[in-house]
Amino acid sequence: RIAGPSSLVLFGVTGDLSRKKVMPAIYDLANRGLLPPGFSLVGFARRDWEDQDFAQIVYDAVKANARTPFREEVWRQLSEGFRFVSGNFDDDEAFDTLRRTMHELEEVRGTGGNTAFYLAIPPSFFGVVVDQLKEHGLAEQAADADGVQPWRRVVVEKPFGHDLESARELNAVLDGVFPPESVFRIDHYLGKETVQNILAMRFANNMFEPIWNANYVDHVQITMAEDIGIGGRAGYYDGIGAARDVIQNHLLQLMALVAMEEPTSFDAESLRLEKQKVLSSVVLPSRLDITTARGQYSPGWQGGEKVIGFLEEEGIRRTSRTETFAAITLHVDTRRWAGVPFYLRTGKRLGRRVTEVAVVFKRAPHLPFNATSTEELTQNALVIRVQPDEGLTMRFGSKVPGTAMEIRDVNMDFAYGGSFTEASAEAYERLILDVLLGDPPLFPRHEEVELSWKILDPILEHWARKGKPEAYPSGTWGPESADKMLAREGRTWRRP
Ligand code: BG6
Repeated sequence: RIAGPSSLVLFGVTGDLSRKKVMPAIYDLANRGLLPPGFSLVGFARRDWEDQDFAQIVYDAVKANARTPFREEVWRQLSEGFRFVSGNFDDDEAFDTLRRTMHELEEVRGTGGNTAFYLAIPPSFFGVVVDQLKEHGLAEQAADADGVQPWRRVVVEKPFGHDLESARELNAVLDGVFPPESVFRIDHYLGKETVQNILAMRFANNMFEPIWNANYVDHVQITMAEDIGIGGRAGYYDGIGAARDVIQNHLLQLMALVAMEEPTSFDAESLRLEKQKVLSSVVLPSRLDITTARGQYSPGWQGGEKVIGFLEEEGIRRTSRTETFAAITLHVDTRRWAGVPFYLRTGKRLGRRVTEVAVVFKRAPHLPFNATSTEELTQNALVIRVQPDEGLTMRFGSKVPGTAMEIRDVNMDFAYGGSFTEASAEAYERLILDVLLGDPPLFPRHEEVELSWKILDPILEHWARKGKPEAYPSGTWGPESADKMLAREGRTWRRP
């Protein structure tokens, strides 16, 4: 799969996302031979830059963050297609210049006029930018003499709103200018190989699906733990918090993939339909005070180093009530999942960086062993290791070698590195390629975004009434209330 003639216009070139993810991914795609020879990248920002200045920014970003080795000839060919347009988002002249630039690239680089507009900017600017694209005739281009109409797509990044109402408004803004099939919402978790593998594992095999239901599954734990703090992202994070930052999108998408029924095919429409059915079947427990937990990291130790607390971070209000840890309990009200809790948790400055989905099974209905021989036997579990140690672990009981019948847990591992020689591509590479190919299955549609907010809104309102989140020392596994939340239901969190 190689992208056809195309170009990408990047708004927000100086931001973290562009430099850490988008620019390196474009280079890596070029280096892997997946971009067309005339692919062009146009940067749009307020800076008073020339094309060379922009090229230097991309160069630095590629040098610092690209996955694949630097190759002079790839860089030369790619950078010939770099252009920079300087201006404010409300600057009509700049958008006229952008139109001329796109025409020029069509002529000299053969982009065919096909353009993806990547909005790596705060959502509050989405409206003005898409309106400008429309006003200046950039949101669509008429067909040429042969009847070929160049495509125009818009790529947006979360946060898709901060609650249901704002998400609806944002969706209306985008849908007012671009048809739904031309709007690509990035949830980079869906670009991860291990996340895509959830459906392969479930539906390409026969051994998991028969037990993938309330008859066998006791509960599901979805953990996204990070060891980093909020670093230089105070401006974005304060007031947003862990639930809006990653539960609304990444964790609910993971849950939808774990819980959904088999789609009739793997096209975007069928996938969306099944994910949507899960999200609309979610119900919250009645007691949000004991079935959710939230925390804020305080000073502590991480990797042998002393680290500061959230309230000491630069740019954070000293009275901030923003949570850096969130845990919630959800139920999926369907026959398949009746009575099976889904526990979702995420946090910054936790024990280590790990994302995993653990499907924990009920105990065997009967154990023909005496109680002491099974003291170290817990529940069977299938753990989907999303990152960093990509793979699957199956936990089950086994006899300890020896003269007595003693049984304890053992792990059976599948590691990507042991079975595949190809390293997984970065999620952004896959997603940007899919945008250029017009391939939508890995992008959530606005219905999913709105359903996710519908789930989260009551929890956020509950927390807003409660006041301050509970402090937890950096380097630990979150606030005590998170442990209590599971303990009350007779369960414990995994310590990955
Ligand atoms: C982003 C969040 O979506 O995901 C960040 O905004 C988080 O806060 C990041 O650090 C984690 O991504 P990954 O791919 O490293 O798990």
